[in-house]
Amino acid sequence: MTDNSTTRSAPGEQVLSLRGVSKNFGAVSALTDIELDVHAGEVVALVGDNGAGKSTLVKVLAGVHQPTTGTITFGGNPVTLPNPAAALDLGIATVFQDLALCENLDVVANIYLGRELNPLRLDEVAMEVKAWTLLNELSARIPSVRDVVASLSGGQRQTVAIARSLLLDPKLIMLDEPTAALGVAQTAEVLNLIERVRDRGHAVIMISHNMEDVRAVADRIVVLRLGRNNGVFYPDSSNEELVAAITGATENAVSRRAVRRQAGQDA
Ligand SMILES: Nc1ncnc2c1ncn2[C@@H]1O[C@H](COP(=O)(O)OP(=O)(O)OP(=O)(O)O)[C@@H](O)[C@H]1O
Ligand SMILES: [Mg+2]
Repeated sequence: MTDNSTTRSAPGEQVLSLRGVSKNFGAVSALTDIELDVHAGEVVALVGDNGAGKSTLVKVLAGVHQPTTGTITFGGNPVTLPNPAAALDLGIATVFQDLALCENLDVVANIYLGRELNPLRLDEVAMEVKAWTLLNELSARIPSVRDVVASLSGGQRQTVAIARSLLLDPKLIMLDEPTAALGVAQTAEVLNLIERVRDRGHAVIMISHNMEDVRAVADRIVVLRLGRNNGVFYPDSSNEELVAAITGATENAVSRRAVRRQAGQDA
């Protein structure tokens, strides 16, 4: 891991703020007037039905898509994210659902893919030590950093992809469906890993369809419906209110706890 941890934000500091962000694909409004705030040391779950705009929002923040309108503030400054490299440079890392790992390369090579310490003279020993240190810090269960990715389980692959995204010490890490297609034990391992990432002070946005996983790890749950905000909830919000917001039975609901918080009545 690079030693630029001073770029990480102070706990609770606002890392990301979106105001009025919209994205049209021709006549299709994928996102309309999105508002979103994410703080350091916080996991925000982005939930919503198929087509709600979750992946589009992540892609806007990853520099893959350009917003049609709206303001993105990152680290206190208004930013544009013209391409994925620009997002990465600013400290926004993304683990896309397909993980983009190379099956035939080992764990070290995958963590350092394209970011070799010294591209002219591959510093294999230093990269191996750093990869091992990073995985240890995350208490990741990878038998050997010299194992090829093809031999790893789904959970271990997700772990490698997350470790890879942490290499440049991003302020924000976004995970698209990190537990989809994982078994019970592997899901628990990945959720633990997400908590450790949060505890290191990174801000985390996690897309998930699994409400159990969301409740287990999220500090806040942001619902999107048909490309619009449709409520902010907490892990102790009732299933009924969460499902109602996701399916559209309620409109832009603010949970009772959010109202108490806004009124300063919560401890
Ligand atoms: N590149 C694109 N071109 C045109 N329309 C798109 C494009 N990407 C997304 N859309 C549309 O934008 C809307 C939101 O899609 P998006 O993939 O963001 O939803 P999602 O919440 O991630 O859904 P899912 O849970 O199924 O992954 C959909 O109507 C989709 O068809
Ligand atoms: Mg999606």
